[in-house]
Amino acid sequence: MDSANRIPRHVAIVMDGNGRWAKKRFMPRFFGHKQGVDALMRTVRACADRGIEYVTVFAFSSENWKRPTEEVSGLMGLVLVTVSKYLTKMVGEGVRVRIVGDLSQVSDRVRAALDEAERSTRHNSRINLSVAFNYGGRWDVVQACRQAIEAGVSATSLDEATLSRFMAMNFAPDPDLFIRTGGEVRISNFLLWQAAYSELVFSDCLWPDFGEKQLDEALADYARRDRRFGLVSSADQLLTAKA
Ligand code: FPP
Repeated sequence: MDSANRIPRHVAIVMDGNGRWAKKRFMPRFFGHKQGVDALMRTVRACADRGIEYVTVFAFSSENWKRPTEEVSGLMGLVLVTVSKYLTKMVGEGVRVRIVGDLSQVSDRVRAALDEAERSTRHNSRINLSVAFNYGGRWDVVQACRQAIEAGVSATSLDEATLSRFMAMNFAPDPDLFIRTGGEVRISNFLLWQAAYSELVFSDCLWPDFGEKQLDEALADYARRDRRFGLVSSADQLLTAKA
């Protein structure tokens, strides 16, 4: 396929930089998270317009509980506000929402709002938005192993394909493109299993500033990459074929 036209099926995003974005404006961190929700909605729409089928975002990590209590409760409150403000729009725009993560620790109100987002969008198919909430890549591997054991999978029959069926993202192809905003260059326990062959793009843009321009830059970067999945490069394949 012409690499210039290559669009990833699945884009994963670590939406980092909300706090610094707010700090630069002498505003509380929560203001950055609030603007981050607008950036998320903008980005999902832009992804759908470009034919991307899956977007998975890191909204709340297993480690985020260690943040100050007011920031944690602010983020939980933001879930409620986001669902009431954007759910009708998402239903209308064909966005199917799924939540991935351990919801056993979140409050009944927040869980109910997340359930409602999943339930009301379950017939949508234009784009799949997965929101990782109280999620960690290591948690995912452990919970998948537990489920496999409970399902009676034997140690000898356990292989990668079998374990994948128990992973939280078992409904989606692995991410082709993994974007992290905010200038940090690490994966931070997001989709550890699924991102094994993802193309990584790190952007200095703070998440609330992310939009179509930054998405297109990341997509252009992705289109230039030679995805090898452990094989030789396509240039080498051509040389071998000609020889
Ligand atoms: C990282 O920025 C961002 C988060 C921990 C939260 C991301 C959440 C959102 C964008 C809102 C989406 C939420 C819902 C309700 C779906 P940071 O706070 O670590 O920023 P910093 O590195 O500049 O401090």
